[in-house]
Amino acid sequence: MPEIFVAKVSQFPDGERRIVAHAGCEIGVFHWQGKFFAYENRCLHQGGPACEGVIMHKVEDVIAADRTWQGQKFASEEVHFVCPWHGYEYDLRTGECAANRRLKLKSFEVKRRGEDVYVIAG
Ligand code: FES
Repeated sequence: MPEIFVAKVSQFPDGERRIVAHAGCEIGVFHWQGKFFAYENRCLHQGGPACEGVIMHKVEDVIAADRTWQGQKFASEEVHFVCPWHGYEYDLRTGECAANRRLKLKSFEVKRRGEDVYVIAG
C-alpha cells in the first residue's frame, strides 16, 4: 500500500494537523497528545472538508443532583474537530460522529519512521 509522506515530526507540532492528497482523496492527519490520527477529509453529511474544522473539547451539560441544568463545560478528555460547513462534530481519536457513533470517517494508519510521518493510503 502506498505510503504518503506527511511531515517531519519537528515540523508537525502536537495539536496541529496536515492535509495530504493521494489519488483524488484528501486525508487529514492530526498530531494530538503524542499520537497521530488520520481520516478521509470528507464529511459524512455533505462531503465538506471535515478535517479542516476547528478542534475543540467536547461541550457537556452540567446537571445538578436535583436534575436542573447548571450550564455547560468543556470535557477534559474528549476532543472533537468540527466540519466547517454545517458543524458535524467528530471524535478526534476515533473518527466517529459525536452525535451518532455508528457513523465514522474512513481512517488510515499512520506510521512514523524516525523523524518522518507517513500515512498509509489504502
Ligand atoms: S458537510 Fe460537514 S456538516 Fe455538512
